[in-house]
Amino acid sequence: MARNKISIIGAGNVGATCAHWLVKKEIADIVLVDIVDGLAAGKALDMFEASPVEGYDVKLTGTTDYVETANSDVVIITSGLARKPGMSRDDLLKKNLEIVSSVTKSVVEHSPNAILIVVSNPLDAMVYAAYKASGFDHTKVLGMAGILDTARYRSFIAEALNISVTDIQALLLGGHGDDMVPLPRYTTVSGIPVTELLPTDKLDAIVDRARKGGIEIVNLLKTGSAFYAPGAGAAEMAEAILKDKKRVLPCCVYADKEYGIGGYFVGLPIILGENGVEKVIELDLNADEKALLDESVNHVKELIGQVDAIGV
Ligand code: LAC
Repeated sequence: MARNKISIIGAGNVGATCAHWLVKKEIADIVLVDIVDGLAAGKALDMFEASPVEGYDVKLTGTTDYVETANSDVVIITSGLARKPGMSRDDLLKKNLEIVSSVTKSVVEHSPNAILIVVSNPLDAMVYAAYKASGFDHTKVLGMAGILDTARYRSFIAEALNISVTDIQALLLGGHGDDMVPLPRYTTVSGIPVTELLPTDKLDAIVDRARKGGIEIVNLLKTGSAFYAPGAGAAEMAEAILKDKKRVLPCCVYADKEYGIGGYFVGLPIILGENGVEKVIELDLNADEKALLDESVNHVKELIGQVDAIGV
């Protein structure tokens, strides 16, 4: 039986770390692609040489040539510039649009049936750009952000309560990061509403820290942005697809009638399986949540306007 194949475009911190999380899952052979000669090849070889120690049987290829990505089942696009201190994700739009459009075109030429997971920033706009550049059905193009934002939120809740991170379930809506719409009433600790365990002011502080989680890391690193948690989020999505797990995860997806979004890519809870986005789950939002989501969608619309003005 042929193994599944995941290609990761961009062998920088996010791409290489995503590969690192994925090899341990043994769900697919991995092709790492980067424009910088030797970077993907070096990292793939290094990870292959770690395999006897860590015990994974995965074929790893590192290349500059998209031919090697042919017939991938899943392609994870991480290419683009990362933020430095003082920059917002939106500051990356122009340059990363050029990069994401061009790599998406190269990807789809060789893998017309792949599901695309976009990680590049500004996330919601880059997912739209990949969708446009690919010509794929909107169920096959999605972005990783909600898993990262919820992971931050869940980590901080677990820390505040001094309990296991694995027992925190949470959902978020909206654009990535500063724009995210937290849903404390859908956050539970093994089924117990978090609102019964943490006072509102503590929960508000946690939401605020999760919202600004990206810049907190940028300010610490100074030379770039987060990669362990973003890489892990993309790996989790690839696993849900390849194992057809029907996971309920917050991902950046296309929504039209759902939540009255009107044809934009934005973070929403979905069912993720072998067909990509299998369903957008619609929750009955209260007025405050709806107002936050509308504000977030308006910001995404502004960015999409910039993408459309430049073109993919
Ligand atoms: C973050 C960047 C990668 O949130 O978007 O860390």
